Amino acid sequence: MKRTMMCGELTKAQVGQRVTLMGWVAKQRDLGGISFVDLRDRSGIIQIVCNDDAPRMGREYVISVEGEVRERSADTVNSGIATGEIEVKADKVSVLAQSETPPFEIEEDSETNEQVRLKYRYLDLRRPNMQRNLVTRHKIAKIVRDYLDGHGFLEIETPMLTKSTPEGARDYLVPSRVHAGAFYALPQSPQLYKQICMISGIDRYFQIVRCFRDEDLRADRQPEFTQIDVEMSFVDIEDIIEVNEGLISEIMSGILGINIKLPLARMSYAEAMERFGSDKPDTRFGMELTNLSEVVKSSEFKVFSGAIESGGSVRAINAKGAASKLSRRDLDGLVEFVKIYRAKGLAWIVVEQDELKSPITKFLSKAEIDGILSQTKAEVGDVILFVADSDDIVFDSMGNLRLELARRLDLIDDSKFEFLWVTDFPLLEYDSDEKRYTAKHHPFTAPMDEDIPLMESAPEKVRAKAYDIILNGNEIGGGSLRIHDTALQERMFKLLGFSEKEAWERFGFLLEAFKYGTPPHGGIAYGLDRVVMLLTKSESIREVIAFPKVQTAAELMSGAPDFVDKKQLKELHIKCTDAEGTRENSRD
Ligand code: AMO
Ligand code: AMP
Repeated sequence: MKRTMMCGELTKAQVGQRVTLMGWVAKQRDLGGISFVDLRDRSGIIQIVCNDDAPRMGREYVISVEGEVRERSADTVNSGIATGEIEVKADKVSVLAQSETPPFEIEEDSETNEQVRLKYRYLDLRRPNMQRNLVTRHKIAKIVRDYLDGHGFLEIETPMLTKSTPEGARDYLVPSRVHAGAFYALPQSPQLYKQICMISGIDRYFQIVRCFRDEDLRADRQPEFTQIDVEMSFVDIEDIIEVNEGLISEIMSGILGINIKLPLARMSYAEAMERFGSDKPDTRFGMELTNLSEVVKSSEFKVFSGAIESGGSVRAINAKGAASKLSRRDLDGLVEFVKIYRAKGLAWIVVEQDELKSPITKFLSKAEIDGILSQTKAEVGDVILFVADSDDIVFDSMGNLRLELARRLDLIDDSKFEFLWVTDFPLLEYDSDEKRYTAKHHPFTAPMDEDIPLMESAPEKVRAKAYDIILNGNEIGGGSLRIHDTALQERMFKLLGFSEKEAWERFGFLLEAFKYGTPPHGGIAYGLDRVVMLLTKSESIREVIAFPKVQTAAELMSGAPDFVDKKQLKELHIKCTDAEGTRENSRD
């Protein structure tokens, strides 16, 4: 039982040779006395010609075929598949395994409902595009390992059963049998372990590592996902960026054959917000924001002047030439769209040949209207859209409106790969629900030296030594230089609202380790799933993860999570109830 090669490896060079192939029956056409089978394995598909003595076969049967490779006649060449010029004339076909009729067709672009695909993931993964995604993922991981190995990094495994590290999400907890009532947390990232590795003298660390965050799922977010995690000693931001640009360049040329231009573009957080309303701007198209606050600050139109008076702003987007593409109904739809981002309304002006169509021009003076039109460089055929509110709401709604308009107006060139470093993030952000500051990146990120004196007096002004790497408007990675002394780290914890006692209870091991000779260090982590998603042009990261979870955080094939036996719970000193706390939830 020996295969001579894979189906997709056959070429015209093998014409006349005898081969043994094994795989799945993708398609079968019976022409009476002779039948054609499309045989599929990981490498591709080849047509097999069988006589009527071949055994009975159905879709997804596993068969082995022995026969001779021959050229197809010109009129039967199939240009749709790589092996379309040849076929194998079988003289021996054996069925290795039968298959029930699969619940959906296993073909390149399946329209099948995702829930069904995930329940029968083993069938879904047989589809050629899913196999290609897994191959690309493997190749990217291999390039990363080879590149980092070549640059002196050691791959080191850190624990999965850990003490909680705050990356801002909820932890997945694992109960301890031995320590009644105590829990491990699955790592949200190996952040503290990799920093400790620097204190251990590892110098350059990396790990392709699973991380766990109990947060709401999205197209680019999974509860368990994979990071390419990197940390380096004795470096500044420039050293880290340089190594990482080399890595990105290697991935792009290795996977897509694209030579990207280095150094990559950079933009400060403040500039990204001002121009694009986002800290992960998609720079493949323009349509930047214009700040109109100066123009309308004394306007009679209270929606505008009021927002500015209370410390906010009025900003606009000029959707160039969109007048003919956006109907009144579309504009009403966009008003609803910005409300998702808490904007109270969306004002607009449609610039026509002889008039301005708008629900707000009647409230504005001639000077204000002229100012708006000149600042936004408005021309006949353009649509100007405005939001007035506090800056965070204006940026969030306009930033998202910009992306929505680009999609609707088809402004994005899908063939582009635009990388961008966003730098100079604020160290902290104010959480108005909890009424305290939280770390914008994480609590171990170093503040900029010149901003350290502001930590207590003007915390919102402190910038961090943090950077994100953006690809086509997606945050594919982020990192920072770290605090590396006990006193500054304690100050940071205090800003975040931890008492000294709490800080030492939770992070005492790090604060203690800092006392024993800590090199300056910093690093970055990429979301591998996101990188693979973008390079394969997939719609979601679920397309590039073999066994992903759905919206409810369930894994549909195995049915995880599930109830467990009473005995297991007893050993763990745990009693479970349903959400109402009335019925006990476990298996007898
Ligand atoms: P951060 O939290 O920014 O940084 O994560 C790094 C990168 O991981 C990806 N990512 C995710 N991908 C899929 N699903 C998720 N739920 C998810 N969450 C994050 C993103 C993100 O840019 N320890 C720090 C890194 C450091 O400072 O070195 C960290 O984890 O692409
Ligand atoms: P109103 O005076 O509430 O009828 O609003 C007049 C116009 O201004 C309508 O087109 C609203 O959509 C728009 N509008 C209301 N609030 C805002 C806001 N915060 N920012 C921008 N436009 C707004």
